[in-house]
Amino acid sequence: MSTKKLFINPAKTLGHINPEIQGQFSEHLGRCIYEGIYVGDDSNIPNVNGMRTDVMDALRAIKVPVVRWPGGCFADEYHWKDGIGEKSTRKRMINTHWGGVVEDNSYGTHEYMEFCRQLGCKTYINGNLGSGTVAEMSEWVEYMTFSGVSPMADLRKKNGHEEPWNVDFFGVGNENWGCGGNMTPEFYGNEYRRYQTYVRDYNSDRHIFKIACGPNVDDYSWMDGVLKTCFRNAPDFLHGFMDGISLHYYTHPEGWEVKGSATDFDDKVWYKTLSKTMYIEELIERHAAILDRYDHGKKIGLIVDEWGTWFTVEPGTNPGFLYQQNTIRDALVAGINLNIFNKHCDRVRMANIAQMINVLQAVILTDGERMIKTPTYHVFDMYKAHQDAELLESYIESEIIGIEDEFKVPSLTESVSLGTDGQIHITVCNLSADADHDIETILSDAGVEEALGEIVTGDMHDMNTFEDTDRVTKKEFSEFRITDGRLNFTIPKCSVVHLSVRF
Ligand code: AHR
Repeated sequence: MSTKKLFINPAKTLGHINPEIQGQFSEHLGRCIYEGIYVGDDSNIPNVNGMRTDVMDALRAIKVPVVRWPGGCFADEYHWKDGIGEKSTRKRMINTHWGGVVEDNSYGTHEYMEFCRQLGCKTYINGNLGSGTVAEMSEWVEYMTFSGVSPMADLRKKNGHEEPWNVDFFGVGNENWGCGGNMTPEFYGNEYRRYQTYVRDYNSDRHIFKIACGPNVDDYSWMDGVLKTCFRNAPDFLHGFMDGISLHYYTHPEGWEVKGSATDFDDKVWYKTLSKTMYIEELIERHAAILDRYDHGKKIGLIVDEWGTWFTVEPGTNPGFLYQQNTIRDALVAGINLNIFNKHCDRVRMANIAQMINVLQAVILTDGERMIKTPTYHVFDMYKAHQDAELLESYIESEIIGIEDEFKVPSLTESVSLGTDGQIHITVCNLSADADHDIETILSDAGVEEALGEIVTGDMHDMNTFEDTDRVTKKEFSEFRITDGRLNFTIPKCSVVHLSVRF
């Protein structure tokens, strides 16, 4: 197999990689919030103010930049006042969307804000447009962010929080084409115009980044319809009317109905999964082209606030809990997506993998007091070097591989950035199920002086379990040579590699 070249131009930056591209999503779904994050302060599981210590430590280590909450479909049925005040009097209700279990509202606004404080991350609240009122959404923003005298600010103070919090991002509805109200794009566009009006900036120096509900997958008519409706007679448009619009895309190897096993798959399904993941690049480009028609200055971000693998639930678990295992295949899905987001950072300003703990492509799984980090976690751990970096122009040679014509993929994908540490950060995925690849890295008008590497690799089915917690981890990668300023290395099959390069 011939050596593939990776060309990097350190002199050409193409955009800023927002840390929020590595964001997370946490919904009141299965064991994501309850058990995953929040165990209550009287739990035997070590915790600080109810947030489990092992999980918080692990999340801090990968520098989680932002966490979206409370949903998802749950958000458009969530009434925030049910989740404030004395816990024993909070409403108990059925989580109708997810598993039909009792939701006791013990994790509400104050608990979410405490979680973000402990993690040191930005806040992303998703409001209820589907079944909530404009007044309810408006009051929630007032409750969280107003520092003066007002009914909602007073209520917050009465509930024990004198100072307002920062709301960095606010989603005005979720999946309003589906679980958020089955609306048409025109109807939603008009509702967006109205609801967002009352998502006020109470602090003149802090703008809440407002996110409209964007399309599912390839629903280009939704994107166009919402934008057309929102841009009509909206001269103030560029002034904080809409800062972002979402895109949701999940990787289902066998389609939405069947999905497919998280752990039991063959080479054919490996390539099928990865090729379906690669499809997000076309989605981003085509949705961005529609955005370009309305937003010439690229002011509106494409916010991929739900992405990742969605497999059949683990046998014996509640189908409404969406609990799945996570293998090396998920590590590749994570690396491929993050490379694509980096390369489109001119439009992709935030992305939130679904979902942070115990749900879909989680970075952490728990079982009572036990916790494991998934292969996806270790990929995020490597990619954190790209946070706040500048994207560099790069190109990698690759071959088209796969089993069936329909599911071909490039053998290699990459993204490269100039980090805040002054080093070049290269992340490469080898999508091949059976072939290692030799790569020669060439910097234009510069030479590589020193490099450090790390890798997530294994058999494609490898995963961590509660019995074998560290089968897949991030390992040191030192199989490279520097000759005459060129860096040569061999990336094993089924691997994600990160190289930090001093030049
Ligand atoms: O992440 C699970 C669900 O997927 C979310 O609640 C919803 O927004 C999407 O359909």
